[in-house]
Amino acid sequence: MIVGIIGSGAMGSGIAQVIATAGHKVHLLDKNAQALQRAAQSIKDTLRKMSSKGRLSENEAAEIMDRLNFTENNQEFGNCDLVLEAVVEDLQVKQQLFKELELMVTDECVLATNTSSLSIASIAAACEKPERVIGIHFFNPAPLMPLVEIIPAVQTRNGLAEEIKYLVQSWGKVPVIAKDTPGFIVNRVARPFYGEAIRIYEEGSADIATIDWAMTALGGFKMGPFTLMDFIGHDVNYRVTESVFASFFYDPRYKPSFTQKRLFEAGYFGRKSGRGFYNYQEGAVLPEPTKDEKLGEQILTRILAMLINEAVDALAMHVATKEDLELAMTKGVNYPKGLLAWADELGPEHILANLDALYKEYHEDRYRASPLLRKVVRENSTFLG
Ligand code: NAI
Repeated sequence: MIVGIIGSGAMGSGIAQVIATAGHKVHLLDKNAQALQRAAQSIKDTLRKMSSKGRLSENEAAEIMDRLNFTENNQEFGNCDLVLEAVVEDLQVKQQLFKELELMVTDECVLATNTSSLSIASIAAACEKPERVIGIHFFNPAPLMPLVEIIPAVQTRNGLAEEIKYLVQSWGKVPVIAKDTPGFIVNRVARPFYGEAIRIYEEGSADIATIDWAMTALGGFKMGPFTLMDFIGHDVNYRVTESVFASFFYDPRYKPSFTQKRLFEAGYFGRKSGRGFYNYQEGAVLPEPTKDEKLGEQILTRILAMLINEAVDALAMHVATKEDLELAMTKGVNYPKGLLAWADELGPEHILANLDALYKEYHEDRYRASPLLRKVVRENSTFLG
């Protein structure tokens, strides 16, 4: 199999490395020669590091490099079986790219997009043969993150998602299939991890260090929400929040916060700019959490109830199967447990009671419980049985 990748930035270069490591020949194209050079250097450095740690032989590293062709010329895509684009997140650019690409590739070549926030249907609509278009969404950094979301569009031919699933599995990744809805699985279900944490902070019930402590020390999450947002960067995380909110026709459940918007506007992007929710400048002292167990439990319960409700609602709306929802959150964002398994463990009635109490308190649509959660409680049942 020969694979073409377009865009050799953070994602494209990582994906090219994954696919060449799996044994396929890869053409990696970028319109910017410097970006191509950077990609070649960065893949080479990574492979060298891996071989110095004994995770690859020098021979294997050289073979992987040999399978990669760095190019500025899409004429070479005529022999590709699959082309995946990872260029800028701009619908017009992606549509134009696919239009031009269709003139270069064979009729059988599958066209895939790594978009995080555009609908696959809107990209496929630009193609003569939209039935060959599909979303293959990697996570950053692609060589390290096991999860890959596969998203068939309304136009995608039957069976293609399953074919791509087996292919992605053969690359050593964990594929899940998601419906073409905003945020797919991970970027939808994870929203309350950030949004509800910020809400608690805005209300003044707890400071950021205490909320982060509750989620890590008591909840078992690898990073607290504020540390994680600072790590991802508010330029990225705020934009995703805004785009999911708009794409859901402004459903109040996904409403962004002014707190994060102001950080974004101020250029306080987090770790990369030296300041976000926390201050990372030299000499800055990180705030200490309160470590009040009772308050910590309340914070954890509230954020967890919101996360579980989001996962249950995604299940109710057939965004993904139960198995794929659990895999996505454990493999994609390293949650300590799948959210449906967590709901069963805590008791769905307990989660519903928490959400209903929040709804009663605020009368905001944000806290509406999913009808599926209510049904499971009514039937005295569980999610995973
Ligand atoms: P990036 O900005 O690092 O790289 C984009 C590359 O595409 C640049 O090297 C640019 O020169 C090239 N490019 C732009 N237009 C082109 C064209 N018409 N033809 C050829 N090359 C072109 O972007 P990044 O972060 O790698 O993102 C790429 C895509 O992956 C976007 O759709 C993004 O939403 C998606 N994505 C990004 C993730 C992330 O964490 N960065 C995670 C998952 C998906």
